[in-house]
Amino acid sequence: MTMPRVRFVPLGKEKEIRAGATILAAAIQCEVPLGQSCSGDGMCGWCRVSVVEGADNLAPPDTLEQRVMRDKEFKANERVACLARIQGDVTITTTYWGYE
Ligand code: FES
Repeated sequence: MTMPRVRFVPLGKEKEIRAGATILAAAIQCEVPLGQSCSGDGMCGWCRVSVVEGADNLAPPDTLEQRVMRDKEFKANERVACLARIQGDVTITTTYWGYE
């Protein structure tokens, strides 16, 4: 079985990751800095990321993620990294990683 590949752009970091891992877990494994202040409890919304490619390869938001997305006014392509689970290849970015 092939493992999902996660890419963090424009940082150029990528890794194969266990299916079902969160984006935050993948970021930690790739040593990518990702804002958070609730350690993944789905409270702060600081772990907001944008999905560049592969949005369909993330599990649909659960009730808690939907609440964070609504409370923090996420855009359609944004997800809560500590809650969104990876099921297939996906490419992720944030506003603060910055494009050259
Ligand atoms: S780390 Fe707080 S909502 Fe994700």
